[in-house]
Amino acid sequence: MDAIKETVNTAIGAITGDKTTAREPSDQQLQQVRAKYEKAGQEQVFAFYDKLSSAEKAALFEQLSDFDPEYINELADKALHPPKTEATESTLEPLSPSATCSVLDSKEEDLKRWYEQGLDLIAENKVAVVLMAGGQGTRLGSSAPKGCYDIGLPSKKSLFQLQGERIAKVEELARKKSGKADVTVPWYVMTSGPTRGPTQKFFEENGYFGLKKENVVIFEQGVLPCISNDGKILLESKSKVAVAPDGNGGLYLALVKSGVVADMGKRGIQHIHAYCVDNCLVKVADPTFIGFSASKNVDIATKVVRKRNAKESVGLILQKNGRPDVVEYSEISAEDAEAKDPNDPELLKFRAANIVNHYYSYSFLESIPQWVKKLPHHVARKKIPYVNTENGETIKPEKPNGIKLEQFVFDCFPFLTLDKFACMEVKREDEFSPLKNAPGTGEDDPDTSKKDIMAQGAKWLQAAGAVIVSENGEGVEVSPLLSYGGEGLEFVKARTIKAPAYIYKLEGEA
Ligand code: UD1
Repeated sequence: MDAIKETVNTAIGAITGDKTTAREPSDQQLQQVRAKYEKAGQEQVFAFYDKLSSAEKAALFEQLSDFDPEYINELADKALHPPKTEATESTLEPLSPSATCSVLDSKEEDLKRWYEQGLDLIAENKVAVVLMAGGQGTRLGSSAPKGCYDIGLPSKKSLFQLQGERIAKVEELARKKSGKADVTVPWYVMTSGPTRGPTQKFFEENGYFGLKKENVVIFEQGVLPCISNDGKILLESKSKVAVAPDGNGGLYLALVKSGVVADMGKRGIQHIHAYCVDNCLVKVADPTFIGFSASKNVDIATKVVRKRNAKESVGLILQKNGRPDVVEYSEISAEDAEAKDPNDPELLKFRAANIVNHYYSYSFLESIPQWVKKLPHHVARKKIPYVNTENGETIKPEKPNGIKLEQFVFDCFPFLTLDKFACMEVKREDEFSPLKNAPGTGEDDPDTSKKDIMAQGAKWLQAAGAVIVSENGEGVEVSPLLSYGGEGLEFVKARTIKAPAYIYKLEGEA
């Protein structure tokens, strides 16, 4: 337990960024830390220590002091050798209908009530948004944070900008409804070592997308060492441990340690919408979702869409051993992935695809310290460049040579009973188009993101009475500053709009 506490505590410094200038340790300090690594069988991290410069020694010592090697061994051992019993004993079932609703078949009056209720809560300054943007976007093949990505819209807006503008718009809608002048939805943006600097810079350069700087809080998640397939901590260089962000489940520790939960408390936040950076259609601070979740009085709610096919890389929301849970795409058996619904063989049995849009009650986030240490770590097998500690050579492996340890954001769902959890099915074309893959892939790539935004814009405009003329099936981009979810577009009635176009102001000039 002490080991855990120590690692948790040392993670604090990493997250909050309180780094004093590193100094070379005294012999005694060095001896203490070295002894810990020797005891844990991880002394290879000191292989080059004696030949390093003073600054390098200081940096490596600081990094090594931040980890508890015994705890890392424990995590790696659990991750590499998971207990076999659990998988065979667990029973998976779709979530019960009482915990779910679908906007596809909800009554119009319920949807309207939830929307109004959500907007009222926003107007009361009780709603905040948390963005998970610490991932490295390896599949996309871009070294910049994903949120900076220009998906090729006529406006050239980045994902961050689309999301920031939706926040501005929902604040405006709440202001109009309530007549209150001071409506704020604070935006907490989680980054990681690799994404923090460029994210901060991008927000500054873009004037926080019109939001007030004090209402945009950028914070950082923790890191964990990368481990070889035989459980050894890897060195990235002679003076640096190879580390990786601790997964999007690192969110919880980071929320507490970086002071976000405390800040929410000070602001009187009660309802939180958390989401992933890569979804260009995300309805940030969606009033309907907030109203639905608040009225159900749950601790967590989540949005799902129908899974495209058995192979789609999405987690599945379900119940496992009578608790809400997600089975991740990397961990589901082919049998479960392909199982058909006994009542309708046309459908997959498990089809509630997780789109990582979560609602949290503030009181649930306040309880993080009580359960955060119980969150498991998962294994991601990766190609991790490393220094061979025998001969000092840097190796760029061609196949996975080690593991990164990651926590998953949904792993706290089973800590809840089913009555404290709800699930809302939404339309994929309205709410989910993730940017995962490199241009040209044809699925979940920049082109599909762009296409889905433009198709949605065209649909909204047509519903408002416009005639869209499109030769190649191209759509129309509608600025989030003009419309959050299709509302307020009456001015286009009976107008003809030639696609592709970008509609961003009331006059309707494309
Ligand atoms: C994730 C979900 C999956 C879901 C899918 C939908 C998890 C663990 N898996 O999978 O169930 O169906 O999205 O698109 O949530 N991130 C961090 N820090 C990290 C790692 C990731 O903040 O250390 C963020 C990323 O920036 C991104 C989000 O988490 O916003 C999802 O990460 P990604 O690795 O793309 O998730 P998927 O594997 O696609």
